[in-house]
Amino acid sequence: MDVRLQRINKSFGAVPVLKDVDLVFPSRKFVTLLGPSGCGKTTLLRMIAGLEDISAGSIYFGDREVNRLAPRDRNIAMVFQSYALYPQMTVRKNLGYGLRVRKTPATEVDSAVERVARILEIDHLLDRKPGQLSGGQRQRVALGRAMVRKPDIFLMDEPLSNLDAKLRVTMRGELRRFHLDLNATTVYVTHDQLEAMTMSDLIAVMHKGVVQQFGTPEEVYSKPANLFVAGFIGSPPMNFLEGKIDSGRFRISEAALPLPPLTRGIAPGLDVVIGVRPQNLSFVTSAGPNALAGIVSLVELLGSEKLIEVQIADRKRISVQVRADSQIHLGQNVHVEFDTSSVHVFDKLTEQSVLEAMR
Ligand SMILES: Nc1ncnc2c1ncn2[C@@H]1O[C@H](COP(=O)(O)OP(=O)(O)O)[C@@H](O)[C@H]1O
Ligand SMILES: [Mg+2]
Repeated sequence: MDVRLQRINKSFGAVPVLKDVDLVFPSRKFVTLLGPSGCGKTTLLRMIAGLEDISAGSIYFGDREVNRLAPRDRNIAMVFQSYALYPQMTVRKNLGYGLRVRKTPATEVDSAVERVARILEIDHLLDRKPGQLSGGQRQRVALGRAMVRKPDIFLMDEPLSNLDAKLRVTMRGELRRFHLDLNATTVYVTHDQLEAMTMSDLIAVMHKGVVQQFGTPEEVYSKPANLFVAGFIGSPPMNFLEGKIDSGRFRISEAALPLPPLTRGIAPGLDVVIGVRPQNLSFVTSAGPNALAGIVSLVELLGSEKLIEVQIADRKRISVQVRADSQIHLGQNVHVEFDTSSVHVFDKLTEQSVLEAMR
């Protein structure tokens, strides 16, 4: 079932926290609301669940407006960051709870519980109590409890944030598989861009209650609509440099870097910020037209890569990602080359991508 949010606004008292949110989540897709803490993700999810009033706008499930529909009548399931299981009940009882309170016949409850336990690979834990489970197992029970009812829409609010780093990575893959098994439209909330990138069909990047961009992980990564999205998506973060456009080139201090052909139409003299990811920079042996001179100010080993911070003119710093075996050392004089085709250009005033506006 698709979920449509039409010009959704929300204020707490006089404080607006969501502004004109217009989004369509296609049926059965895994959609993520991504943004920093306080941007309004939880509030929006709670509005979809019916737990929060809508100040203005409409929410549709399929063709049906659900604004005034009670949560229990929405056929949704929700998993929160802190998942409360009933400690005195076995896993089996916890999983079946939602069905039992709806007076589902016992045989149906049993088969639903066993189906979900198999999917989640917790069937061997059914007779244990929550206190006898690890954090990851408890989280799976919480997911299972939401899944037994075959919801049309599955809502998850940062369900992995209480797990340790390794388990989080495993659970990302599992949640993705559950989604495929469940066949429900999933709306997932996280502040973790990597989680969003790895799990989602579509990502809505939010900031200060406003949707900044809605697209596939590839789109938000490779065609960021504005400075916020460019800086929020990708790790290590994108480098930004301020300068001016001057006859098809980007002028910064005494250097003038070539820009992608698309940028030729940009008004001369426009104040811009260019963005380039550390992965799209490299070291060259001599000064060239695409290179900036600088001095290595920090070397950080990331594992299979190294992140090299280079101080360039005007005390600006840029990060360059290279292979871990690259022989680059602190204090070394270097030339950093730009992969012109991967440079992003933003209007300094509006912060919007100049390139995307011209495509
Ligand atoms: N019940 C509430 N009363 C007043 N302000 C709230 C309430 N719930 C959330 N807020 C405010 O709304 C904004 C968005 O909060 P929230 O949706 O929880 O953000 P996120 O989930 O993205 O961290 C925050 O500024 C928060 O302080
Ligand atoms: Mg939240």
